[in-house]
Amino acid sequence: MRVCSHVKALCGGLLALLAASASGPVAAADSPIVVKFSHVVAANTPKGKAADYFAKRVAELTHGKVKVEVYPNSQLYKDKEEIEALQLGSVQMLAPSLSKFAQLGVREFEAFDLPFLFNDEKSLHAVTNGPVGKRLLQKLDSRGITGLAYWDNGFKVMSANRPLKSVEDYKGLRMRIQPSKVLDAQMQALGAVPMVLAFSETQQALQTHVVDGTENPPSNLYTQNMHLVQKHLSVTHHGYLGYALVVNKRFWDGLPAPLQSALSKAVAESTQVGNDIALQDNQQALEKIKSAGKTTIYQPTLEERVQLRRALLPVQTQMAERIGAQTLQDIYRATGQKPIPAP
Ligand code: LMR
Repeated sequence: MRVCSHVKALCGGLLALLAASASGPVAAADSPIVVKFSHVVAANTPKGKAADYFAKRVAELTHGKVKVEVYPNSQLYKDKEEIEALQLGSVQMLAPSLSKFAQLGVREFEAFDLPFLFNDEKSLHAVTNGPVGKRLLQKLDSRGITGLAYWDNGFKVMSANRPLKSVEDYKGLRMRIQPSKVLDAQMQALGAVPMVLAFSETQQALQTHVVDGTENPPSNLYTQNMHLVQKHLSVTHHGYLGYALVVNKRFWDGLPAPLQSALSKAVAESTQVGNDIALQDNQQALEKIKSAGKTTIYQPTLEERVQLRRALLPVQTQMAERIGAQTLQDIYRATGQKPIPAP
């Protein structure tokens, strides 16, 4: 037993050592510092394009001293693994969706999943660009992660193989969700059966009827060909999906100051560029889905939207304790909304 525990301690030490050396910005005199940037979506998505733009600007601003290698489409890691890889320093950068940070124990990020919390990008940005957004990113520090920025994707649509018009239409549908308790509660509030699946597995799960439907902004549905296996899409815009651009903290802190400030400039520029792309891409993706001719796109009527909102609003109060009542109040304040009274 004692030998075992010694071996364990030794292995633990070695792992920590490996992680430390893997994450430090090591570069030979004439070779660039390499930043591996892993993500799970296609290259021609808002996140994929923002990541590529970031890589291009970093090369320009650092005169080739830093090289960002972008690995799209879960080529390196799937959802959960990529966060572990970041902490270990096997990759240096990611932009996971905000729904995926609760896995690290930072549950406040699930606030962004709350249905009907943001009316539009403006109210969302009031949160991400304000003190709440900053505070949430800082919470990642203790996990060995530095939060650099928020990147938009957009507002989500719902899809399935049957029309999704009234709330009753969701009853019994197995809906793929991201690993978020708020999204779980949201689907349950509709009478659907939430199923957590990695993004990279979703298209196939839809195709083979492991799940019946899903939610995502149109750009994600289209670029994964989910529309080819979903007959109906409803433009519900019931919730938001965005990202936190994050970097391994040890790597970031170890960068020479001039390089760190060049990367910060590239972050600010790519955030702006990416957010503009996100708006356009989601609009265009809807049109492309329509012209592919496999999916009927439905715009809910005002009454149907009111009904959906009424069914989903209680999720805000239901999840307040998990997210943190104060964080939620701060978000309401930033977006200029009145707190939802207890049911
Ligand atoms: C999803 O898993 O549905 C999305 O978060 C994927 C992404 O990164 O946009």
